[in-house]
Amino acid sequence: MTTPNAPVRSVTPRRPARVVVLVSGGGSNLAALLEATREPGYGAQVVAVGADRDSAGGLALGAEAGAATFVERLGDHADRAAWDAALTARVAEHDPDLVVSAGFLKLCGPRFLERFEGRYINTHNTLLPAFPGMTGPRDALEYGVKITGATLFFVDAGVDTGAILAQVAVPVQEDDDVETLTERIKVAERAQLVEEVGRLAREGWRLEGRTVRVGA
Ligand code: GRF
Repeated sequence: MTTPNAPVRSVTPRRPARVVVLVSGGGSNLAALLEATREPGYGAQVVAVGADRDSAGGLALGAEAGAATFVERLGDHADRAAWDAALTARVAEHDPDLVVSAGFLKLCGPRFLERFEGRYINTHNTLLPAFPGMTGPRDALEYGVKITGATLFFVDAGVDTGAILAQVAVPVQEDDDVETLTERIKVAERAQLVEEVGRLAREGWRLEGRTVRVGA
């Protein structure tokens, strides 16, 4: 569905596309992306990895792979707006074609969203719009859904509400607990992320309201 007069954003990335990845945790999604970028035909390179905490394991993965790394902690700033400005500047330094939130546990602020509008994607571990937020797999399990999955989307000002780029379904098994379900989702989520970032990098994209066209 294309909404008349919807804002349009077209991006033709450089080759290889410059990607900045934001992480808060272990970085298994980042690790999958770094692995993919070793193949020259993939079309993207991770130029920098940023985190909101020193302990993010993804920082070490990025450094090992030769990417620049940086940490911008919310607590080091007077308020959220100052953190937003600092994070925006840090990411902008690396001149990205695409910014990927891969387990980044902070909502970026208005300055960041304006600067990277149509270039900032996030992976979420449910089938949106069901179960947004931090406890998605737990909420899905407690609700009793039979199918959940992972969603890759362009970030907007809401919580997990942006235009959807791709989704993958993961069946819930009878004996699943939060941990087994979360882990099974992560496997599908990583494959989807690698596939879609490669496609965006090689083919470019166009965002028209909530419609995402890769290769347009
Ligand atoms: C992903 O499942 C993501 O959806 C969720 O956090 C996880 C990040 O895992 N928000 P990792 O740090 O990439 O291993």
